[in-house]
Formats: sequence, structure tokens, C-alpha cells
Amino acid sequence: MQKVRKAVFPAAGLGTRFLPATKVIPKEMLTLVDKPLIQYGVEEAVNSGIENVIIVTGRGKQALEDHFDISFELAQTLAERGKDSILKELNKIHNLAQVSYIRQKQALGLGHAVLVAHDLVGDEPFAVVLPDDVVDAQEPCLKQMIEVYEKYQAPVIAVTEINGPEISRFGVIAHEKIDEYTYRITDMVEKPPYAEAPSNMAIIGRYILTPDLFPILAETGKGTGGEIQLTDGMKKLLASRPFYACKFKGKRHDAGDKLGFLIATIEFALKRKEFAEDLKNYLKNLSI
Ligand code: G1P
Repeated sequence: MQKVRKAVFPAAGLGTRFLPATKVIPKEMLTLVDKPLIQYGVEEAVNSGIENVIIVTGRGKQALEDHFDISFELAQTLAERGKDSILKELNKIHNLAQVSYIRQKQALGLGHAVLVAHDLVGDEPFAVVLPDDVVDAQEPCLKQMIEVYEKYQAPVIAVTEINGPEISRFGVIAHEKIDEYTYRITDMVEKPPYAEAPSNMAIIGRYILTPDLFPILAETGKGTGGEIQLTDGMKKLLASRPFYACKFKGKRHDAGDKLGFLIATIEFALKRKEFAEDLKNYLKNLSI
């Protein structure tokens, strides 16, 4: 069985949900406490055994490339000032993984973004990580999924329970339960109306996929929202091979949404020793 070595990060989106912050700054560079969203995703991938990171970028996204490169000026200044611990943190970033970049010239949808990475992925299984979805988990979400992939040797999608009308903002699966954390997928649909959702199991931005998806994506037309949807491509592939869902242990934050981003910021800050106590006291005494 081929190891999952590569992860594709679609990052060409315009970030319209976050304007005006994202007029010049890529949304993937927005920070939770002090780390950009993209770095959370890349660290999760690396901690799951991924060696090659493929970032699908677009115009105005150069900051992403600079972030994973060496910054000589900064490193030299920090060294001269004896700021060794910050320098160590900084050096970790460009040593995380081998990072490649490819441009998605038009924002035609998530399925199209994944297709753009075909040549860089080649003929092997790969992960897809949506940087907007930040998963806080003891065992990295992608690692949990790779374990399911290795057991069943089939594609795996991460899912979480969403109850209520909010489900229509997600891809949704129909499934048969295998155990508390694993399901076999029987159908999937992108952003169904609430009344038509086949379950309360929503797809989140973590996938382990196989290269037989690429030719299918190449033939997938526009779906929901006029975009080429990854869910539509996967649904077609589901007709010819089993697909599994991993109800991962952990918490997913929607950092692509303003409220979700604020909540993630607070929760990640509360996990940091240097802020936990003061922030908690501040929030407790807040009277607006
Ligand atoms: C994408 C996928 C959707 C999935 C979601 C998770 O939608 O198309 O199936 O549920 O990510 O965040 P988007 O949020 O990019 O519209």
C-alpha cells in the first residue's frame, strides 16, 4: 500500500467573507493568537507524517510563499539581539516540509483547485487540507484519518455532527455506522437544503483521497454555487469504490467565518499558559 506523503492546501480563494482584512492579506495568513491559519494546517499535516506540502495559490498570495521561506534579515537581527527562542521558532517554519506552489488561475471551485494539483500529486494517495478549518485535537485529525485509510485502503473524509439548519453550509454524507468513529459512506451531497440533508454528519475540510479521483474531477461540471465541487467528484467515485468517514476526536473551528474566527482565537489563547489566567479573568469581568 502506498503511504500518504503529500497534502494539498487549496488557498486561492478571495477571502470575501473577511473583507476588508483580506483585501491585501491572504485569508490563510490571518492569525489565531500569533500563528497564521495555514501554519496550523501545515503543522497538523507534518505531525501526521506528511512530507510534501502543495499549496494551490492565486494572485496576491505571495505572503504564503514568503512565510515558508527563510527570512535572512529577520533571522540575523534576532541572532544579533540574542533572541534565541524566537529564532528557533522562526527556523522551524521553513524546515517543516518541502513546500511546492501552483496557481489556480481562476476561482472555479474546490474540485478545480484539487485538480490543479494533479501533476504535483502524481499517481499516489494524498491528503487535502482546507486551511479555514482548524482542528484542535490531541492526535492530529489527519493522522486519525490516515489510520482509517491504512485499515480500509480507501478514501476517507472527516466528518462532524452539525444539528440544525447550519448543516446546509456543508457537504453532508449518508452512512452506515462501523463503530463510534468510523462510517461507511453511502451517499454525499454538497450543501443540501436543511430538509433534504441525508444526515447530521457534515464534511469538514480534511480528506484522504486517491488519484483515481483526478480524471473524474476533470469531467465534473459546475454544481452548487456554480462551482466545480469536490463533493460532486467524490460522489461519482463512490459509485465504483468504497469511501469511509472518520468522526475524528477533536474540535473543528471554522476560522473562515468571523464569529468562528473570534471563538477560535479565544479558545486557542485560553490554551496558552501566558494568557490563560489574565484572559479568563478579563472575560469573567467583562460587562458590556
Ligand atoms: C467546503 C466543501 C464542503 C465542506 C466545507 C468544510 O465548502 O465544499 O463540502 O463541508 O468545505 O469546511 P466551503 O466552506 O469551502 O464552501
